[in-house]
Amino acid sequence: MDNIERWRQAATDVFWYQAPTEVLDESKPPFYRWYPDGVTNACYNALDIHVDEGRGEQLALIYDSPVTGAKRQYTFNELRDEVARFAGVLAGLGVLKGDRVIVYMPMVPEALIAMLACARIGAVHSVVFGGFAAHELAVRIDDAAPRVIVSASCGVEPSHVVRYKPLLDEALDLAHRKPEHCVILQRPMEPASMHAGRDLDWETEIASAVAVDCVPVNANDPLYILYTSGTTGQPKGVVRDTGGSIVALKWSMRHVYDMHPGEVYWAASDVGWVVGHSYIVYGPLFNGNTTLIYEGKPVGTPDPGSFWRVISDYSVKVLFTAPTAFRAIRKEDPTGSHIERYDLSSLKALFLAGERCDPNTLEWAQDKLGVPVIDHWWQTETGWSICANCLGDELLPIVPGSPARAVPGYDVRVLDEQGEEVPAGTIGALVVKCPLPPGTFINLWKAPERFEKAYFSHFPGYYETGDAGYIDDNGYIFVMARTDDVINVAGHRLSTGAMEEVLAEHPDVAECAVIGVADALKGQLPLGLLVLNAGVDRSAEQIAKESIQYVRDQIGPVAAFKLCAVVNRLPKTRSGKILRGTMRSIADGETWKMPATIDDPATLDEIAEVLKGLGYPPQ
Ligand code: COA
Ligand code: AMP
Repeated sequence: MDNIERWRQAATDVFWYQAPTEVLDESKPPFYRWYPDGVTNACYNALDIHVDEGRGEQLALIYDSPVTGAKRQYTFNELRDEVARFAGVLAGLGVLKGDRVIVYMPMVPEALIAMLACARIGAVHSVVFGGFAAHELAVRIDDAAPRVIVSASCGVEPSHVVRYKPLLDEALDLAHRKPEHCVILQRPMEPASMHAGRDLDWETEIASAVAVDCVPVNANDPLYILYTSGTTGQPKGVVRDTGGSIVALKWSMRHVYDMHPGEVYWAASDVGWVVGHSYIVYGPLFNGNTTLIYEGKPVGTPDPGSFWRVISDYSVKVLFTAPTAFRAIRKEDPTGSHIERYDLSSLKALFLAGERCDPNTLEWAQDKLGVPVIDHWWQTETGWSICANCLGDELLPIVPGSPARAVPGYDVRVLDEQGEEVPAGTIGALVVKCPLPPGTFINLWKAPERFEKAYFSHFPGYYETGDAGYIDDNGYIFVMARTDDVINVAGHRLSTGAMEEVLAEHPDVAECAVIGVADALKGQLPLGLLVLNAGVDRSAEQIAKESIQYVRDQIGPVAAFKLCAVVNRLPKTRSGKILRGTMRSIADGETWKMPATIDDPATLDEIAEVLKGLGYPPQ
């Protein structure tokens, strides 16, 4: 079907206060605008519409928290009312359409309620993942300049309680654009002290709040900003519009995931990531599905059977998670013995994304679950899948190692450095011919030049994904590696460049390099190599230890930065470029070639010795 016609028809499936008369405005590439004169509201499409259509008593949200023992359920009626009241709290604090609200919360229903409450009044939410430390939160506060921050006293990890509120207080001390108010959800396991005048208690505020109605917004008004790692310490604020997101996410629920209203959909991720935005919060609710907020891990809460328990307790039809979750389960339960304890007859498919899916993991999951295991490829920028085996249309043969073909709406090509298309089977830069479909990013927050430069300037007329790969003779796409400094740790996207910036701040460090090394569980792990300033006579181990703590304090525990060593010098080309790729190949035990441009080949031998000392390549 013609691209424009597909998205014209798809738009008739969602609620508009004023239906769009134009499908796509192409007048200012790469700033394409879908449904430019449409008027709608994302919260209305997620909640009110289902109440209005008679599904108010159907379950909208299930909260299951093995780390606290809590379980709660909300019907569409209940969730709509709760969201409308919290929207009243925000409105009462002066939050207006277009204002930003930062949400820094663990996996509790209130995170989703806060997001939808923003959408209800046309405010722009920006959710910050709880595993980021105060400094990262402060950077996002300064960029988004929120009127209000919504947070919680703590999050609960299997081994410890993470005190969010002190991190928030520290971030606010560091930030220059301080909000007037913070609304804090006090959790019984670790209540937080409140800052008089600034901090307000969630329960108290919502108890006296007046419910407010949905505010009509333009289709191109931002629904949210989600920061993601780029090549520098300054994260990219991906901006998603409202109308395109509603149309595309609802379309994807039907066509990619084969979900129908009333069925239960579970994305085992976190609301702090794009998967959480698109497939814990918006997609399932737009489509009238029941969604799940799971506060736990695939293993250890309490055992590797926890995913199976949740599937059987709530009759989950489709599970979506990252391959790393399955690697963790498989490691603890290689024979899948925990699967036999549960009735998984409701499960029709498993979708994996967030990192390259190794064929072993895919085949293990397929074998143990007996349902199609579908790898699909997408990014924070695109908001939904670029490539997938569309279960709702026609399931194509599954080829391990490939997320199948481009999804309708994405015209994926492979280009060489000169921007020429390469023959089938040849690796090159994976790009998407413009325009990107609805629901993809429309800008970077307050950085339109960076938007153009980072994504659309290298290959004019194409969106540069930052991934390299190839397309085979059958149109199957293989995503092999990033072309930039981004690494993927347990499905979490991180920037080695940002870690290098932090390490360079250590007073004893003259120079450093961070590379992503292969890890059997998390896919990749960051590994740092430090060159010290001349004359430093403190112990190398101590400096490496301090550097590890630096990254943990500045970026957060999510970086999983635990491998670090001091070296005499870094291998470089004659022009001074650090040979990160070659060091990575050595660490991963791959065959590698001595770069012709290397300044001093002996540096690589020294590095190989240091890497060996850190356990790389694993024996
Ligand atoms: N708030 C605060 N801290 C958090 C956090 C949160 N929401 N999420 C993770 N962290 C912390 C963890 O406690 C851990 O800290 P530690 O170094 O003190 O132990 C660190 O960040 C790394 O966490 P994580 O990446 O979750 O690693 P893990 O070793 O605890 O667990 C897995 C490994 C594979 C079980 C886990 O990564 C997982 O479940 N992954 C599923 C995939 C996923 O959700 N992907 C998201 C994109 S789809
Ligand atoms: P994020 O923006 O956090 O979703 O990370 C996006 C990046 O994760 C992509 O650019 C890829 O490098 C990687 N990625 C996501 N899904 C896949 C997949 N199915 N196969 C290979 N890589 C993937």
